[in-house]
Amino acid sequence: MTTSASSMDHDADGRAVDLVSQMTLAEKIQLVTGYMGIPIDAHGVPEGNRVLTPEMTPPPGAIGSDGFVPGIPRLGIPALHLAGAGAGVTSLVARPGGESVAFPSPLAQTATWNRDLVREFGRRLGDEARAQGVNVVLAAANNLAIEPRSGRNFEFHGEDPVLSGTLVREELLGTQDQGVVASIKHFAGNFQETGRFVLNSVIDERSLREGELLAFEIALTDADIGAVMTSYNKLNGDYTSESYYLLTEVLKDEWGYRGWVMSDWGATHSTVKSAMAGLDQEFPHAHWFGAALMAAVAEGTVPLDRLDDMNRRILRSIIAVGLLDDERPRPLPAVEANLATAQRIAEEGIALLKNSGVLPISPEFSGTIAVIGSHADVAVPAGGGSAAVTPIGGSPVPVDTGALPVFWLPDSPLRALKAAFPCAQVLFDSGDDVYSATRLAAESDVTIVFAQQVTQEHFDVPTLDLPDDQNELISQVAAIARTTVVVLETGGVVLMPWLNAVAAVLAAWYPGQRGAEAIAGIVSGRVNPSGRTPVTFPLSADDLPHREVFPMPPLAGQEGPVELTLVNMLTQQQGEFFDAVYDEGLLLGYKWYEAHGLDVAFPFGHGLSFTEFAYVGCNIVAARPDRIEVEVEIENVGSVAGAETVQLYATFPQTAPQTPRRLIGWAKLRLEPGVRGTAVVEVPLKLMSVWSVEDSRWRLPGGRFVIDVAASSRDVRLSREIDLEER
Ligand code: BGC
Repeated sequence: MTTSASSMDHDADGRAVDLVSQMTLAEKIQLVTGYMGIPIDAHGVPEGNRVLTPEMTPPPGAIGSDGFVPGIPRLGIPALHLAGAGAGVTSLVARPGGESVAFPSPLAQTATWNRDLVREFGRRLGDEARAQGVNVVLAAANNLAIEPRSGRNFEFHGEDPVLSGTLVREELLGTQDQGVVASIKHFAGNFQETGRFVLNSVIDERSLREGELLAFEIALTDADIGAVMTSYNKLNGDYTSESYYLLTEVLKDEWGYRGWVMSDWGATHSTVKSAMAGLDQEFPHAHWFGAALMAAVAEGTVPLDRLDDMNRRILRSIIAVGLLDDERPRPLPAVEANLATAQRIAEEGIALLKNSGVLPISPEFSGTIAVIGSHADVAVPAGGGSAAVTPIGGSPVPVDTGALPVFWLPDSPLRALKAAFPCAQVLFDSGDDVYSATRLAAESDVTIVFAQQVTQEHFDVPTLDLPDDQNELISQVAAIARTTVVVLETGGVVLMPWLNAVAAVLAAWYPGQRGAEAIAGIVSGRVNPSGRTPVTFPLSADDLPHREVFPMPPLAGQEGPVELTLVNMLTQQQGEFFDAVYDEGLLLGYKWYEAHGLDVAFPFGHGLSFTEFAYVGCNIVAARPDRIEVEVEIENVGSVAGAETVQLYATFPQTAPQTPRRLIGWAKLRLEPGVRGTAVVEVPLKLMSVWSVEDSRWRLPGGRFVIDVAASSRDVRLSREIDLEER
């Protein structure tokens, strides 16, 4: 399949056209109408709910995954079984064989800055999907994590479009290599969960093009990705599932995208407008497509040509990955290999944010180590919502169904630390009682506090503080302990009011079900950390572009802010439309803090190593007409092997005023101590261009660019200039 996928690609279009010519009208409608793959009765349908409805009950044949489209056996068209897949194949409700390896969160994957490793993750995901009979994965969320309180940041790939788009593309290609269709989501402009069904994101065209759309453009252009999923929100006044601008003008016409567009679950709101805007498939019920689309085709309000185009797009995508010809038996899940990849991603994705020399601790250490908090005796946390994986081994901690549940993966930092420090005494305290925790800390040589933050789809976090008084716990422990190390297991960014009082901080994100081994590996120096944060850690929420997430207006007949619970989250998320005006414009993520001269706790791209790298030299060549090539020589001048992520940031010439300095490329290089190596970064000139609203195209401003060669967005080691001619 790996080799045949691209060669088959050629005739995918031809075969799709041929198949469509043999389909009846009813079959054409059937293929563009997707259902929930789970019998809805299993949930019960909340009263008055506009999202979960009995019509979602799938026709026979569904395997219990997120989505299902019946096949057309007479033409050899297989049924489509769709499942979520950000950190492993998901199982929204328990389904037989639906347990998967829980990989580190997408944000953790991004923190590796390692293209090959993310591609490998994509392949592993494809394998797991095939093993479960899933042939379309609702995989990569490419929205930018520019609202640090968003409940879905753990599913996103950081705040920078170049980083996000590049790594998402690797993941999707890896998955498709295995003969499974990969989809990318949520197209586009959904940065917060609060009110996501009734939210209108307002973003000016240039900022959209150079921000979130650039991430999608990088991931999709020439990559032959099978499917794109729209988002729930409106963008500049139109539902994204009804936006001709987004789906047809930009995606299909300008970027030449040949796959299909599906709606997010419940994000279709019309028949004719959606179909004519470029939506190719409705999920998760036959409300707007199905019989309504059949009638529209009969009336001619949706031309038959357009219906044929929808079908062609779906078929070409499934033919291109080899689904139509796939007669291989389902593989057995490669659990051990997948766990090994999960561990490698965690080892490369965990970022050592602070280290005042305490780490690594020698494996021969024979003192006492206190491990405190976050069920670190038995579990690591994971994010919730449609990306939550039912882990192999099940949840080791009972899930509290009253409050927002934390999802726990079976993996024990305590056990991993005991194994890493065989001569030490490693003791655990739950952290539930501050007094007991501080007593253990006082008696220990080193204290490692695990701190977790619950995040999940549907809910933004109320503040950037760690929940459940964990800041208090850490402060009290740090005040009394000899040495305190904090391991953050979070969806993304949190504030660290105790930062000066602790010796080291690891950002482990949601590290997946081999995260414990990775954390212990870094603490003991078996692994030299090389993760770099893909999001900026601010010093205060006052420094953010918006003091709070955009609030929903009160619901009719109710006063005050909308209260969301697990039970009412679908109904309460609805009501009057409201605008989320992203007036920070081009200043997304680190660009905001830079433009406003704001200090940050940890800048974008930051992460420490146990070795040191010297930046020896840099050479820029205008290699080809459409790109420059930057060669950076670095040397590992420390005493252990390690990896450096060489980052390039461009400052624009005078001819492009108000263009913020931006990441244009990077290379990750592993070097033995004392060894020099050259990082080679190819930068397409598009990444040094600005979007011209006037001409509707990318324009390379002429003049002198400054290229910073940096170890983080704020740690510039070398600078070079290059003159480029306007285009
Ligand atoms: C989410 C999508 C997901 C879909 C199916 C939606 O609520 O926004 O990301 O793929 O559900 O589970």
